[in-house]
Amino acid sequence: MPLHRKLFVTTALPYANGNFHIGHIMEYIQADIWVRYQRMQGHEVNFVGADDTHGAPIMIAAEKAGKTPQQFVADIAAGRKQYLDGFHIGFDNWHSTDAPENHELARQIYRDLRDIPDSAGGTLIERKTIEQFFDPEKNMFLPDRYIKGECPKCHALDQYGDNCEVCGSVYAPTDLINPFSVLSGARPELKHSEHFFFKLSDPRCVAYLEKWTQDGRLQPEVANKIKEWFSVRTNPDGTKSEGLGDWDISRDAPYFGIEIPDAPGKYFYVWLDAPIGYLASLKNLLDQRGQDYDAYMADPKLEQFHFIGKDIVTFHTLFWPAILHFSGRKAPDNVFVHGFLTVNNGEKMSKSRGTGLDPLKYLSLGMNPEWLRYYLAAKLSARNEDIDFNADDFMARVNSDLIGKFVNIASRAAGFLSKRFEGRLSAEFGALGAAMLADIRSESDAIAKLYDTREMGKATREIMLLADRVNAYVDQHKPWSLAKDPANDEALHQVCSVLINCFAVLTRYLAPILPQLAEAVQGFTGLDMAKWNVDSNVATIAPYQHLMQRVDVKQLDALFEVPEPAAPIVEIVAPGGEVIAPPISIDDFAKIDLRIARIVACSAVEGSTKLLRLTLDAGEQDATGAPRLRNVFSGIASMYSAEQLVDQLTVLVANLAPRKMKFGVSEGMVMAASHGDEKANPGIYILNPWPGATPGMRIH
Ligand code: MSP
Ligand code: ZN
Repeated sequence: MPLHRKLFVTTALPYANGNFHIGHIMEYIQADIWVRYQRMQGHEVNFVGADDTHGAPIMIAAEKAGKTPQQFVADIAAGRKQYLDGFHIGFDNWHSTDAPENHELARQIYRDLRDIPDSAGGTLIERKTIEQFFDPEKNMFLPDRYIKGECPKCHALDQYGDNCEVCGSVYAPTDLINPFSVLSGARPELKHSEHFFFKLSDPRCVAYLEKWTQDGRLQPEVANKIKEWFSVRTNPDGTKSEGLGDWDISRDAPYFGIEIPDAPGKYFYVWLDAPIGYLASLKNLLDQRGQDYDAYMADPKLEQFHFIGKDIVTFHTLFWPAILHFSGRKAPDNVFVHGFLTVNNGEKMSKSRGTGLDPLKYLSLGMNPEWLRYYLAAKLSARNEDIDFNADDFMARVNSDLIGKFVNIASRAAGFLSKRFEGRLSAEFGALGAAMLADIRSESDAIAKLYDTREMGKATREIMLLADRVNAYVDQHKPWSLAKDPANDEALHQVCSVLINCFAVLTRYLAPILPQLAEAVQGFTGLDMAKWNVDSNVATIAPYQHLMQRVDVKQLDALFEVPEPAAPIVEIVAPGGEVIAPPISIDDFAKIDLRIARIVACSAVEGSTKLLRLTLDAGEQDATGAPRLRNVFSGIASMYSAEQLVDQLTVLVANLAPRKMKFGVSEGMVMAASHGDEKANPGIYILNPWPGATPGMRIH
């Protein structure tokens, strides 16, 4: 390892379509601990992140929110700081993949790739015309996950375009029966479009990536998994692996992304420009400091590392190294893959129970961010394995290890030193004390190595074993007994001085995990906690102030409390003074058969100013298989014109007994909202489902 390392470190770039969740925070804490450790060793680190802003899902989410994509991602970005500051995550820069640096870098890298010939005399970028589903109403090509329909195998309805969640079969969207666009409900049409492909199948790419992924740099379990992607073979389940396939890197307008040079209307697929965002964030940081980006990147000493989760390995071990290498740039030195964090055995992550572990709620309850940093560090290893946040385990590790074993060392010794010796420490430690202090210091390199290799759990265990030794020394020398007789003053002074010095060394070992506590100890002992190797003794201490509270079980209860449905719902008054009806059971509710219906025709009713006559298709058929339509009268003529309603979807109470009216029989009722006080607020509003619902679907 070079004496002075120059490191460029990132985490994965989170999609800018939601706030951070606890999984993100875990990744940032892991990387932040590693970075802080490297800095303590005197290495130079640039640690950057950014929002991953592009792609169809964000474009669609922005549209739903009634914002431009730019405004949408800016609003998400504005919420990032409170999480990062809150958990002491010290990125040097936080940027955006939609920033000008990224547009420029992505286009430049693409040009470089395009101009390099491949083995066959073409270039690594190839254009191919493909057939894809197109939404004629939205006027856009549909990604697979925006197409649904009936499974071709088991005929389950409402399945995604790539696989069936009911029978598990995998297919192409074109295999779906009665496909529809999730965005508009329209039937998608097949359309041709020219796409750009990165030729990963080119023998040069295959050879390069096989070497890059199998030369021992990656975690063994990660390298083994990747090995499978290179081989051409028949899998046990009968499917064929074809080796590396070419990678489709373009998308058609409308797309929120970066336009491809010399190809109007074509955009880079989000995963092409997302990792380039690492470079863009770094460049933005260096520009702010007046440093030269090209010179920085050209330094052969520079090492580049990415912390990522197990779900995005392909992008970082195949696509990303290939993009960099074949565009004439240096590939990353390594990617560090972590598993997924679950909360209380995955139980609380479930949608039905609500929240999981909400990072902001954690902070707002006054819970110490360094408890979480310590707990996660204690669970993390260099392996790609899932870890679980368990509330009881969390409380035990923080209260008995962090506070009980470590923080208590200081609180036990500091009082005597302040009261009896004016805060001055003895330079004499006695034979036992001196030996123990030397031993603890001698573990420095071993613990350093554990941090460097991301064995953070092992590092915390080593440190706690050292703390155990110090506590055994305390029990052996009993400062509280020594303090009873002034004749023991010298012994008391020595013992307490040993304890504070040991505490200072242990604090240094924990400083990457507990930066705020380390800063407080720096103020308390006067030792510089920003450096790893400092053997100087503490000379004096400032009066001791509490370094850390214990976890209170009430805080954990509050953290995981799922809000109960508001208790006496019968007393809540809706607008217009209508009280909520008395509770019914789910069985009562199930008696009402609500269906999605399409209004296929609509007309005014002669002799009524209030009613419209609706002809509804609720997906029904008669015994001969002919479609059955329903006639329903609805008192909504004051709000809607007949033309307006034709072809709209709405909600039908399908099993309401038919009612004979003056104008004919009404076979059901469409649902509409109105104010309790209809005189003051006469509006009546029919219901309209979200895109994706189709006639006949039941509403539960
Ligand atoms: N935008 C892409 C990454 C682009 S990198 C050029 C993305 N974003 S993400 O928001 O879905 O995930 C960001 C990171 O969080 C990924 O490394 C992902 O593995 C990680 N995690 C998401 N859920 C997680 C857990 N439950 N636990 C730990 N990390 C998890 O993927
Ligand atoms: Zn199926």
